[in-house]
Order: sequence, then C-alpha cells, then structure tokens
Amino acid sequence: MKPITGILAATALASGTAAFATDLEVTHWWTSGGEAAAVAEFAKAFDATGNQWVDGAIAGSGNTARPIIVSRILGGDPMGATQLNHGRQAEELIEAGLMMDLTEIAEAEGWKDIVNPSTLLDGCTVDGKIYCAPVNIHSWQWMWLSNKAFEDAGVPVPTNWTEFVEAAPALEAAGKIPLAMGQQPWQQGGAFNVILTAVGGIELIDKIQGQKDMDAAMGPEFAEVWTAFAKARDMAAKSTVQDWNQATNLVITGQAGGQIMGDWAQGEFQVAEQTAGEDYTCLPGLGLEAILDTGGDAFYFPVNDDPEITAAQKELAALLLKPEVQVAFNSKKGSMPVRGDVDLGTVNACMKKGLDLLAAGNIMPSREQVLTQDTINEINDLLTEFWADPSYSPEDAQKAYADIISRAE
Ligand code: GAL
Repeated sequence: MKPITGILAATALASGTAAFATDLEVTHWWTSGGEAAAVAEFAKAFDATGNQWVDGAIAGSGNTARPIIVSRILGGDPMGATQLNHGRQAEELIEAGLMMDLTEIAEAEGWKDIVNPSTLLDGCTVDGKIYCAPVNIHSWQWMWLSNKAFEDAGVPVPTNWTEFVEAAPALEAAGKIPLAMGQQPWQQGGAFNVILTAVGGIELIDKIQGQKDMDAAMGPEFAEVWTAFAKARDMAAKSTVQDWNQATNLVITGQAGGQIMGDWAQGEFQVAEQTAGEDYTCLPGLGLEAILDTGGDAFYFPVNDDPEITAAQKELAALLLKPEVQVAFNSKKGSMPVRGDVDLGTVNACMKKGLDLLAAGNIMPSREQVLTQDTINEINDLLTEFWADPSYSPEDAQKAYADIISRAE
C-alpha cells in the first residue's frame, strides 16, 4: 500500500498540479488598477498549478517597497518571491548568497534562447549564474497626452516635447494643468531622465551616466536639459497629486495635458477603457528621440531551507516566462513580453509603437541597469528638491548632479 503522500504525489503529477499545495508569499508594489489586474494573471496561473499565491502587495512606489523587501531578506524573514526592477537592485543580496540560483531552471526552460533582448538576462546574471526571472519590458521613455485637453484648449495635439511646451499657455488659459506629476522623488527622477534622453540625446546620457564624463556633466548640452526640466517644473506647478496613477488620472480625465511616465500608465488607460490614438496619444522619446529603455521587472527568489517552498519557487520561476502567462500578464500591465516568440494579438497603437522600436533595436539601458539604486535615490532627492523650489537654479542643480555622478560607483 503506497503511503498517502505517494498516492498524492502520483495523482498530482498525473493531473499536472504540484505534488504539494504550497503557499508562496510574493511581494511586489503593483497596487494601481492596471498593475493589480496584471499581477492577478500571475496569481491565477500559479494557483492553477495547485500551489497558492499569497499576495504580498506593498502600497506606494518601489521606493517604499524596496527597503521593506530588502530588510526582510537581510533580517531572515524572506518572502517566497519578490518583484524588483531589472538591473542592480538585488546586487548586494545576490553577493551575500541570499538569492536562489535559477541557472538550472533557466537552462531547462531555454531562457537564453527565448529572452529578448538578451540584456535582460544579463541583468539577472552574476558570475555566470542567473538569479532572476525577467517578466516584462517597461520603458520610461514615454509621454501620454489627453486628446480632450488639447481639444478643449483649441490647439492640436502635440507631436513632440517642443510643441507640447508651446501649447502650455493655451492649456493654462483653458484651465488645464499642462503637465501632470506626482510628488514622489522617483517620479521627478524618471521624468528628468526622459527629458535628458529626448533633449540631450542618447550619447549625452551615456557619457554622463555610463561613462561618468564630468566635462559632459558640466557642459552646455546638459545645461539645456536643465533648462527644459525647469520649464517642466513650471508647467506642473499646479499638479498636487501624490501617486503616479493619480497623475495619469489627470490626463485620463482631461484635467491635464500630458504626463511623462513609463508605459505602465497604459494599464490605467486600459482600466479606464480609453483607446490609444482616439482618447489619448503616446509619444515615445517625447517625439524627439524615438527610443525605449529596457526597464521593467524581474522576480527574485530568496533562499530558504524548506524544500516544499524551494520546489514551489522553482515552479513559479519557470511559469512566469511561459508564453501564455507572458501574454496574459503583459497585455494587462501595458508592458512588452520578454519573449520574442509570443503574439500579444491585436495590440493598441501605442504598444505597436513600442514593439516596433524594440524590433528595430532602438533601445537603451534603463537607469536601474546603469546606476546603483543608492545613486538613483541621491539623484531623485536632488531633483525633488529642485522641483519643489522654483528659486533653485538649473545652473546650481547641474553642479549638484555632476557631483553625484563624480561619486557614483
Ligand atoms: C516601476 C515598475 C513598473 C511600475 C512602476 C510604478 O518600478 O517597473 O512595473 O509598476 O514602478 O509602480
């Protein structure tokens, strides 16, 4: 007579579900309408394996969630899996041996052949071993425009940042906030990086952030970027909302002309049942430098000593990149899949722009892939200080930024 566990395991394997129904706590910061709809697709797929996705959503932005996630892992109270951004955020946890080596799963699932662009997997790789499962490609390099706001203002929808700035007085005269912006450092930091890319150009951002070129950081080209950012500060003076998705809602409801935000904003337009190209317009690279950064999200699995948890972690890691899971999640998240071999079906006009840029190789690394989170946080704090104080001159801010870059690792 087989012990009950043997029968249980045999039955489960026959039905394609997990041998043991294991609860796995998964932390992330996806709490907006669009984000919640997307992460529910991961939970549904994991529950279908017979395991149980225990949702550990942490409200607020990544800047709120990351310290909580990291301190739990360092403090010996790890979750089963956690979302972080592509890039260097888990560097120290991996080097401390606290994150599970997923190389075996990556090889069994053929990730090296399916993840596109391959730089996403490079971002998960330390000393030749793979420590994360990339799940999407998000890019910050977007601006979202309310067609209604410009219609109310009696001006055409801009096709680029320059036209947007020119349209600002008409928007204000129509009682609109030209530029929507939440009041969190990562939002000003992200928007600055988009203006740096679009107005300064990809060579300049690489010189400053990639090469730490101090001449470039103190140069006239970068000064122009600061002038543009000061203009953005003026245009957002009446935007007092806190969270990024509240700022997106100002655009969705036509109260604001536009928002510089990553393409996770698409999830909010979808939940509001707005149609790309009709209700809203998207400008990759602010219509000046059509490029995307390969930001986005990956899942990491802290090591633990419970074999059932470890088995469930491995099952989840493999599941996240399955074609059907990639389509279900990314379609709701507004992001692009990490596989080049899946068809998202009829994508909207904005997602099509993104996929075309990705296919053309018009991509650059995200901030998180180039700079450490400590440097990013320092830059974000400077930008928020600049943003909140109209008397803070672009010249002084440029000097402060250059000083941060001079000390960046
Ligand atoms: C980013 C993350 C996105 C999006 C955004 C706003 O860091 O990569 O998935 O959710 O935060 O919460």
